[in-house]
Amino acid sequence: MNQSFKRCLVTSALPYANGPIHIGHLAGVYIPADTYARYLRLRGYDVLHICGSDEHGIPITIKARQMGITPQDVVDKYHAIIKEAFSGFGIQFDIYSRTSSAAHRQTAADFFSELYKKGKFILKTTQQYYDEETGQFLADRYIRGKCPVCAKDGAYGDQCEHCGSALNPTDLIEPHSAISGGQLKLKPTSHWYLPLNEYQEWLRQWILDEHSDWKANVLGQCRSWLDAGLQPRAVSRDLDWGISVPVEGAEGKVLYVWFDAPIGYISNTKELLPDTWQQYWQSPDTRLVHFIGKDNIVFHCIIFPAMLKAHGGFILPDNVPANEFLNLENEKISTSKNWAVWLHDYLADFAGKQDVLRYALAVNMPETKDNNFTWRDFQDRANNELVAILGNFINRAMTLVHKHFEGRVPPAGVLAPIDRQALAEIAVAKGGVEEAIENFCFREALKAAMNLARAGNKYLADTEPWREIKTNAERTQTLLYTALQIAAALAVMLQPFLPFTAQKLQAMLRLPSSALQWDTLDNPCLLPEGSPLAAPELLFEKITDEQVAAQLHKLECQREQNLAAP
Ligand code: 2FM
Ligand code: ZN
Repeated sequence: MNQSFKRCLVTSALPYANGPIHIGHLAGVYIPADTYARYLRLRGYDVLHICGSDEHGIPITIKARQMGITPQDVVDKYHAIIKEAFSGFGIQFDIYSRTSSAAHRQTAADFFSELYKKGKFILKTTQQYYDEETGQFLADRYIRGKCPVCAKDGAYGDQCEHCGSALNPTDLIEPHSAISGGQLKLKPTSHWYLPLNEYQEWLRQWILDEHSDWKANVLGQCRSWLDAGLQPRAVSRDLDWGISVPVEGAEGKVLYVWFDAPIGYISNTKELLPDTWQQYWQSPDTRLVHFIGKDNIVFHCIIFPAMLKAHGGFILPDNVPANEFLNLENEKISTSKNWAVWLHDYLADFAGKQDVLRYALAVNMPETKDNNFTWRDFQDRANNELVAILGNFINRAMTLVHKHFEGRVPPAGVLAPIDRQALAEIAVAKGGVEEAIENFCFREALKAAMNLARAGNKYLADTEPWREIKTNAERTQTLLYTALQIAAALAVMLQPFLPFTAQKLQAMLRLPSSALQWDTLDNPCLLPEGSPLAAPELLFEKITDEQVAAQLHKLECQREQNLAAP
């Protein structure tokens, strides 16, 4: 890991603009990335968080065909929906652009040309299946047939999902097109390949020796690809949607979507900072971190680094903290089966409760294994943790100060050991969050921050200022002074995780913006004596049984519809 970095480039996987995004995307990629970028910004680092829509590839053309519109219409529609959902959840990108932009097309084509000029590709002609009805060569996934191993119908050109065998399209018995249903014909076609086998030894050393600190799930996948032996990989396709291959005589061929998409990280940075983007991508004192889901590991750890190496002049990722998948109510999230919680639906059903979902997804993030989201767990997290611990602590401290001390921070007075101990929890939580985030353990980090709210709650329960006020106003002042310092620390510390709540708390405490930096957590007196506070407001409301039932009902209807569908 690049420890002595001057700036940090955080990238989040570019989502395909062929549908809206759901909680699986949020938990797997965008919450950890946003938390990480916000944390580093708070620490005063120069950070860029880059993302955008991935607008090429066959899934977009299929969607266009299904909807009876053009691929451009598809990406225009979903780019807008996705962008709005991210902003609704406070996912803070420095730029959210798109790979259909002219700037990206140029950057990706230039990247290809540079590799082409340097002789980094090999040109190969192979026989591939052609769908005569739709007039196109088909990607492996769109070729279906009978599995040669288990004889089940419906195997894909790259895999049989019934018996798990890895297949080639030509292995399939009675292959046909998944798009038109028609017969297929083998035809010769030529493509440019990146000979990944030539990068095998370099990759093995770079990943397994020099980056042995990467997450076990990431290293495990890389090791199995490397052990299986890397093969040349085609970087062009026969398709009419994408970036034209910038070579004479390559009409009808476009760059493979996985060749152009990661270059989107570079072109979006260029679009944001036309004059200084090189500082980020080309200087060794930048820390580059790619946030992705596990299905993207090979592209970010093997193929994109090989492309960058072949090109030369670019830095390579310091870390690729990929997450596993999130299931929904014990079933795989599926866009085609509409088995998902869509972000735009959540925003409509739970207006103003973005942090509740951010919290429920972060504490349950699929960091080391697939995890499950259930609406009951969501309710428990909201009611038993956010309301009962964090909300309760803040509300008790704020209402007591307003009731007894005119809404001003009371004087510290003489601190007893129990007060000092409570204040010392701020440093414990700060250290815990730092260590966990630096190691990409976001669940652990959030737990460390919430432990501070737990400690605050326990402090109030142990010292009972509501009882103390009846006999000893001076001691009560010290108790509430202490509680308010903890509340202020939470307003700073929770920013990376619960940005909406942290902001609300900052406003209640009237924390000046100069206090909103990570290092102010070292200040033993974040809220000076006598400073006025705003009126208390509830940070969270309970999630009701009716709200949960409505969401479960929605899923139940979907399940029935799926069962009835052919
Ligand atoms: O899996 C996906 O959703 C891809 N669109 C991710 C692309 S990430 C990057 F390389 F752009
Ligand atoms: Zn099979």
